[in-house]
Amino acid sequence: MELREAIMNRRSIRSFKKEEVDVSAIEELLEIARYAPNHKMTQPWRFVVLDRHDQAPLQHLIKSKKALKKGKPVPEEEPIADDAPSHMLAVIMNVNEKEKVYRDDYGAVSSLIQNFSLLAWEKGIGVVWKTPGFMQDEEMKKLLDIGETEELVGLLHIGYPAVVPKMKERDPLESKLRYGLTRDSE
Ligand SMILES: Cc1cc2nc3c(=O)[nH]c(=O)nc-3n(C[C@H](O)[C@H](O)[C@H](O)COP(=O)(O)O)c2cc1C
Repeated sequence: MELREAIMNRRSIRSFKKEEVDVSAIEELLEIARYAPNHKMTQPWRFVVLDRHDQAPLQHLIKSKKALKKGKPVPEEEPIADDAPSHMLAVIMNVNEKEKVYRDDYGAVSSLIQNFSLLAWEKGIGVVWKTPGFMQDEEMKKLLDIGETEELVGLLHIGYPAVVPKMKERDPLESKLRYGLTRDSE
């Protein structure tokens, strides 16, 4: 698959087939994705792979937090949905106290996630980068064993696509592009 084709045709996948993705395939994708650019070679990332079994308590925590926020009763832990991802990948970043380094590191992790998504797409594996509310809550951190100086950048849902959404057109480039500096005379 050509790179340009992968970039344009990759879609965020939110509905998955039952078929499991082999963890060795996920590892292979990470092995390559980590060649993402990262300033000063901070390599500010680490990962936790969650299979379907591990996803239930995580989903339960997210649903419970949502319910509590709306003043609704906490739901029972439900079995994982039929179209749930084969795996989730928690992408965890070191949080540097210097804002400049933090921003550079977030950029690096984002690049890695895009690499991962494109490489997965090339192999017929779908991914969505999810940033659910409550990602930075203490309970979530405890469940995923995220340290004091770390944060969760995303939960990547990974699996063979059951539904591929239509491409959402992007704004025309002309509306986002200009050449040269703004000068007082303009
Ligand atoms: C930082 C970031 C956070 C995102 N968080 C979510 C999310 O929480 N839930 C979700 O369904 N999609 C999430 N997405 C996916 C976007 O909704 C998706 O990229 C967008 O709709 C464009 O669709 P496409 O990726 O198929 O081109 C996120 C994407 C990014 C880059």
